[in-house]
Amino acid sequence: MQQGLYGQQLTLMEELKAATYLPHVHLQETPFFQALAACQLPLESYVGQLRALSTLHGVIEKALESTNNETVVSIWKSHMRKLPLLQKDLRYFEPRVVPDIKESVEATLTTAEHIRLQSLEQPEMLLGHAYVLEGSTLGARVLRPLFARAFLLTGQDGLNYLNSYGSEVETQWAQYQQRMNALRLSPEERQQMVLAACEFFAQLKTVFLTLYPFKPESKTFLVTSINPEAGRHPVPTDSREVKASIQAADTCWNWFPYFEARYGERGRRFARSDGVWLATLCQFDREQINQQVRWLGRVLSTRGMPTLMLQIHLEILFEELASAIPEKRSEYEKLLDAAAELRKCRNRYIEEDQSQALTDAFNRAVGPEWSERFPHAGALLVSAVADERAGSVGTVKNIETWMTDSARFPAEWITAVQEILTQAQELIARSAN
Ligand code: HEM
Repeated sequence: MQQGLYGQQLTLMEELKAATYLPHVHLQETPFFQALAACQLPLESYVGQLRALSTLHGVIEKALESTNNETVVSIWKSHMRKLPLLQKDLRYFEPRVVPDIKESVEATLTTAEHIRLQSLEQPEMLLGHAYVLEGSTLGARVLRPLFARAFLLTGQDGLNYLNSYGSEVETQWAQYQQRMNALRLSPEERQQMVLAACEFFAQLKTVFLTLYPFKPESKTFLVTSINPEAGRHPVPTDSREVKASIQAADTCWNWFPYFEARYGERGRRFARSDGVWLATLCQFDREQINQQVRWLGRVLSTRGMPTLMLQIHLEILFEELASAIPEKRSEYEKLLDAAAELRKCRNRYIEEDQSQALTDAFNRAVGPEWSERFPHAGALLVSAVADERAGSVGTVKNIETWMTDSARFPAEWITAVQEILTQAQELIARSAN
């Protein structure tokens, strides 16, 4: 345990503050904050910071919430979560389609991975990370007006994270200090926590050094910022294409309310990241595109999203891309071909007019209220049957289980779902004979 100037023992919070004094100064002195103070920080750097922090808060908060470690449980409270605020700020900047800074994404993912591993081995170390993030709410009082001035932000717009506790910053900090100082830690545990805080400050410094200054060629679009869970696959380099792809995914999302009802916001993020990936396919020839689309169609179908959804998504994507960049219309038409391929593949088993007749009967059976709540549900079920026949094993079971859950749907709906599935299956069996 560290001692103060006159030999008295420091509290845990005093020790953390003393040990991280220099790393805090080093972080504060990075060009990022100097450019901010001089009102010269580019928007990519601010949005990049929000993205980096949302990845780090995501990892740290998830680990803090899921551990049973008693020390952690006595400190961490759910109101300390900042990820929802970061996500709100990122949503505010979404229409501006701000590129990523390649090096920042790499540095952030490396740090996140390191913390994830550390948290599994020594969960108490997470309290060192939490100290750094919680303490930054104090600095945020100084930083918020600087960011507001630099990017002409008013009210809470784009500043929710920097205003985490509103006027309660001091009160929250005092309560947090009390909880921390009440911990009974062994000298080793205490040392680990202090080390974790110092190390995290250094890692943040590395990330902030990549956020500003950055080279023009570092600007790129990476799928991690559209959907952090979707890995690192490429997305278009033209911001108009990224914007059009996101718009198309959202339109498709609204087209099928089933999407939201079943998969929630996470589903929307996947629709978006799949959408921007589909847009990158246009550079390939038709056969390569069809092959990739067939593969994605099978993956999605067996997870409860029949190929009709992907087909519609491709058709909307074509419209959006062609209106954003008309001179590339013929290149984008390859997406329409891929959509037509998906439809043709299903029509081999169930013709379009047969599918329509089954869907009409389904809508009559469930009545106007439910067919309005879930438009296209009948068509999705028919698509699932055709997809399964085409080789996507498990598709019908997957969607049937969800669509016949009595906690969600009334009895007439459930009967109509079973009916349409049976009729579609019989139709296929008859035409095979
Ligand atoms: C991501 C960057 C930053 C992080 C992670 C961070 C973290 C922290 C932490 C952990 C504390 C609490 C210290 C304690 O134990 O009392 C703190 C306090 C503070 N920070 Fe920062 N900080 C950051 C950036 C900045 C910057 C750029 C400034 C100023 C321009 C700043 C100004 C302050 C101030 C004024 C306090 C309050 C000190 C006090 O009341 O004793 N911080 N920060």
